[in-house]
Amino acid sequence: MTWDSKLIKKAEEIIKLYPQKRSALGPLLYLAQNKEGYIDDDSVVEISNLLGITEVQVRSVASFYTMYKQEPTGKYLLSVCKSISCEINNSKEVIGGIKEFTGLSSNETDPEKTFTFEEVECIGACGGAPAVQVNYETIEGVTPEKALDLCKYLKEEEPKVIVADDLQEKFGGIKSFEWAIEDNSGTSTTAPGFQIIGTAEEN
Ligand code: FES
Repeated sequence: MTWDSKLIKKAEEIIKLYPQKRSALGPLLYLAQNKEGYIDDDSVVEISNLLGITEVQVRSVASFYTMYKQEPTGKYLLSVCKSISCEINNSKEVIGGIKEFTGLSSNETDPEKTFTFEEVECIGACGGAPAVQVNYETIEGVTPEKALDLCKYLKEEEPKVIVADDLQEKFGGIKSFEWAIEDNSGTSTTAPGFQIIGTAEEN
């Protein structure tokens, strides 16, 4: 679908923020994805005209980053991490259960357009592995059983809005940093890698 005047105005405002027009490519792709749920052909043409670059240049960036979708996704995009921290915390079973429930392999969408499933690399929640995202909202510490409960909930309740905290409470487990050790000031910290150690005073 071609862009309406409101969207073009928004794009022009974004372009003005950058010293070089082409630097606005990422945000404009984001605008396009917000509009249709994926980067459609018309958006590629619009962006190429707005930025004065070729359609191939637009597509090369759009197809490089996996979060820019090339095709429409289902209502719920289920992204399950398969990288090392999640793998050693049983993501294989989480993935297997979701695949069985949805009948999908990675990067597939069901005919009803309810679910798109994808196996992804690290989504930055290694401390709460295994981690799952629904429409990019992250849930940590997901067990295979809870993953199935999550799928059933989405299919049956069809929530209009996905809120990470709600899903975490219903279907999550231990989150990153919940296991943070106490630092030597007697409080726990959200950054366990930065404990107060070896101060001059102690030495
Ligand atoms: S390894 Fe799964 S979130 Fe980092």
